Amino acid sequence: MAGTELFGQEERKEVMDVLETGVLFRYNHDAQRNGIFKAKIFEQEFGTYLGAKHTHFCASGTAADSLALACCGIGYGDEVIVPPYGFIAPIEAVLLAGAIPVFAEIDETLCLSPEGIEKAITPRTKAVLLIQVFGSMAKMDELVAVCNKHNLILVEDAAPALGGSYKGKMLGNFGKMSAFSFDYYKIITAGEGGAIATNDDEMYDRAHKYSDHGHDHIGEVRGAEQHPILGYNYRGSELGAAVVLAQLRKLPYMIEKQKKHQHILKQVLLEFPEVKLRLVPDVDGDSATFLSFFLPDNEKAIRTFEAFQKEGLSASYWYRNNFHYHRQWGHLKEMKSIFNLPLMKINNAPDYGKMEVPESDAIMQRLMMTQIMVNWSEEDLTMLTTKMRLALKIALKK
Ligand SMILES: Cc1ncc(COP(=O)(O)O)c(C=O)c1O
Repeated sequence: MAGTELFGQEERKEVMDVLETGVLFRYNHDAQRNGIFKAKIFEQEFGTYLGAKHTHFCASGTAADSLALACCGIGYGDEVIVPPYGFIAPIEAVLLAGAIPVFAEIDETLCLSPEGIEKAITPRTKAVLLIQVFGSMAKMDELVAVCNKHNLILVEDAAPALGGSYKGKMLGNFGKMSAFSFDYYKIITAGEGGAIATNDDEMYDRAHKYSDHGHDHIGEVRGAEQHPILGYNYRGSELGAAVVLAQLRKLPYMIEKQKKHQHILKQVLLEFPEVKLRLVPDVDGDSATFLSFFLPDNEKAIRTFEAFQKEGLSASYWYRNNFHYHRQWGHLKEMKSIFNLPLMKINNAPDYGKMEVPESDAIMQRLMMTQIMVNWSEEDLTMLTTKMRLALKIALKK
């Protein structure tokens, strides 16, 4: 991923600033920290990048999901519509909130479909947790309209699509609360870390308090602060914030390079009429971290996957492999929790073992994905396009 490819002097400098003060905690100790506040600066710059009024740095993307749900008042017995493709973390966050994940269908954007959401609504539905999957976006106009029509809160998990946008607005700036991850597998990374973003003052006020045991963060003496609400610890460290700050400043360069490289690989796909590109509602807003495309059927998708692997190309066939699609979520289907989740005590809770998302399955069976790197040279790209063409010719020959 881009962040790990470009890790360098800038990250080291930001981390050294923190280590020299000896204050690895984001709050207080003002005299000792010598003006060094990495989490605070990151939040300002991240807000500017997203065009969001507030952001808050936290421990992880999963923490950000939990924080977003909590701030939106989602708790025991509330239904939250979630996608079967993306990652299990936001679904775990819904379960830990005491709420009920309700799966809806995706469409060829690979994100929740507006029609799928509408079909999954019940009187208990409180929110939609949208994952902006692997670099690109859902049909945002229609999806936001469905949420507004049914008075549902939109929680946006933009962890896999940071740097993408829709009609000029950054992904992660559509939800009442949005979540991001900076784990090792994200476009910008601190190894671990996350953030929320919001344009709502009340949501932000809840977020910084809830993520720090309810501290109101007023005054300079932590021990003298008030705790107007119960909270938890989702705090991120100054060291993580320092790294992700340096990474954030590289993000525009990463996106520019990825777009250029994705465009070159896309041209190879377009030589094959049987190949269909993922539906991207705003092509200019694709962060281009990945290139996803469809083959005519399951068999050809598997053949393409195998041919890519044989050529040493990055390849993911999510329907069968990997951990990002519901078919691999056996622990959820069998409810293998080490403690009693609130959902287990709720009448008429869904049985995930019987989950059926046939439209999503049909889409995923045809899907292939390849990853885009920032540091590819002209020679790399020539070699990659040659290998891709060869792999597709082999896989698609009659
Ligand atoms: C969509 C999505 N949300 C949340 C997370 C969780 O992020 P973290 O690993 O930082 O907890 C991930 C991680 O892959 C993710 O893909």
